[in-house]
Amino acid sequence: MHGELQEIGEEFYLLRSEEEDFHRNIYIKRFVGPDGDSLNMIMDPGTPLDYPALSKALKDLIGGIRNLHIIFLSHQDPDVSSNVGAILASAPRALVFTSIDTWRLVKMYGIPENKFKPIESFKRELLKVKRTGHWIQFVPARYCHFRGAMMLYDHESRILFSGDFMAGVNTRKGPGIYATEESWEGISLFHQIYMPSKKAIQRTVDRIGMLNPLPQVIAPQHGDVVKGELVDEFLHRLSSMDVGLDTEESIEAEKENLYVALNSFLDMLKLTYPAVHSKLISTLTTAGEFTTVFKIVGDNVLEVKLLPKTALEHFWKAMKSSAEADLHEELAGLFVNSLRSFGVEPPPELSRPAPEDKTLTTEMVNLDKIFG
Ligand SMILES: [Fe+2]
Ligand SMILES: [Fe+2]
Repeated sequence: MHGELQEIGEEFYLLRSEEEDFHRNIYIKRFVGPDGDSLNMIMDPGTPLDYPALSKALKDLIGGIRNLHIIFLSHQDPDVSSNVGAILASAPRALVFTSIDTWRLVKMYGIPENKFKPIESFKRELLKVKRTGHWIQFVPARYCHFRGAMMLYDHESRILFSGDFMAGVNTRKGPGIYATEESWEGISLFHQIYMPSKKAIQRTVDRIGMLNPLPQVIAPQHGDVVKGELVDEFLHRLSSMDVGLDTEESIEAEKENLYVALNSFLDMLKLTYPAVHSKLISTLTTAGEFTTVFKIVGDNVLEVKLLPKTALEHFWKAMKSSAEADLHEELAGLFVNSLRSFGVEPPPELSRPAPEDKTLTTEMVNLDKIFG
């Protein structure tokens, strides 16, 4: 299922697939010359699932797939490029414009070498379409999210087709195609998963900032079309957020804080409740079903083998099994204080406010029995 073809700028059209959570955007640009003759380009033509809707839409717009001249690919992912073979079979004059890095992989669909126009072979970034007088610009989006990723800027409509850059999963609900504040969560999520590093994003944002004139609209391959003030706003937010490797590095930083907090708690426990302390150390250093979660040398935690959040839950469980039940509340208070003083969020069980309702208390007691 697809929506109708919609014109989002001068002769720049969008065909949006209708998945609720994560869809594809296919764009078509008609460069119409003074004599009415046109050069027709499709950007990221999608998958075989899109072919029937695309075929119908192109029939209405340009008289059929056979009248396509340029197939621009931002990169080689299947959601972007798996339709290329079928489109080329119906559009004998069309050429594939893409980077050499992308072509190396896309040609494995069985596409002959003479159909390929490497973007790197153009002497300049800014190009004039001879037949119609329009200006277009290929803009590298290196490592966003592929080394050879490319974007395409159409000067006539001032729309930048950005491929997976500024793409998003759908967190804005309801009909429409334009981004609102609600779309940001999905863009942020998509970039955290697919973009390798903040540095790659910043370089792409810088390249966009050098475009003259600046784009008024950013049209990504997934999610909502971004226009107006949100273009600047989202570019700004993207260039300052942690993604990919940065996220993993920030987990390392989180772990460092966790070690300091746990060791400070253990020191205090050793002074105030030495028997509980020695039982806890022995519990933590005894392998359970899988392995020991903590690497402890002497009385110090040197390493955790799980995500900090999971490790903390495990630690508190071991703590409870090492102390009499009537000490739990006091120990919980000391534990939470140690964690908070080093900026570590306590496990949800301990940060939850005390329940007022008796039924809830009973339920929690029962749950405790089940999970130990
Ligand atoms: Fe992709
Ligand atoms: Fe994609």
